[in-house]
Amino acid sequence: MSLVCPWWLGPLLASPLRRLLQDPAALLAPFVKDGMTVLEPGPGMGFFTLELARLVGPQGRVVCVDLQPRMLEGLRRRVRTAGLGQRVETRLAGPGALDGLAGQVDFVLAFAVVHELPDQNVFFREMRAVLKPQGLLLLAEPKFEVGLGRFEPTVLAASAAGFSSREGPRVWGSRTAILF
Ligand SMILES: C[S@@+](CC[C@H](N)C(=O)[O-])C[C@H]1O[C@@H](n2cnc3c(N)ncnc32)[C@H](O)[C@@H]1O
Repeated sequence: MSLVCPWWLGPLLASPLRRLLQDPAALLAPFVKDGMTVLEPGPGMGFFTLELARLVGPQGRVVCVDLQPRMLEGLRRRVRTAGLGQRVETRLAGPGALDGLAGQVDFVLAFAVVHELPDQNVFFREMRAVLKPQGLLLLAEPKFEVGLGRFEPTVLAASAAGFSSREGPRVWGSRTAILF
């Protein structure tokens, strides 16, 4: 487990300049379709959330669960400004944060969050329980914090929770896997 990313880094993480290195549209379009239910644990201030909300369309929804209220405030501001507020639900992490989602989720985006969690085994069990049987989880972890020696045990924790895995898409500065 690493330190939790401080809330004041939220605006930097959500900066449009980041798109030069990591393009949310190119990354997410192959996975997210009209009408889907998407779960985004650890969304920060929503660098990926806006694109998720565009891709699910008016009939879909994106549920964002973060530990820090300040991150969720920034995220809500950004989705409102983009006119996407109706499609995005924000929840504070903790007991009950996943209520009503069991077996409902088509796609989980876990980008740069799993290494910050206190218990990855619990996390992957929770994700297995919310995903539909055909659902996918895109795992991406920052290379500068998560070396191979740390990424492999993460994928093993997912496997212990019942996930299979395959290589994920290429993303700048990241180690990725698709869990299904
Ligand atoms: C490095 S940031 C990544 C933000 C976003 N995914 C991105 O790539 O821009 C990690 C985020 O995970 C959140 N986080 C950390 N621990 C968490 C937990 N136990 N539950 C939910 N969110 C958590 C942090 O508050 C922070 O917003």
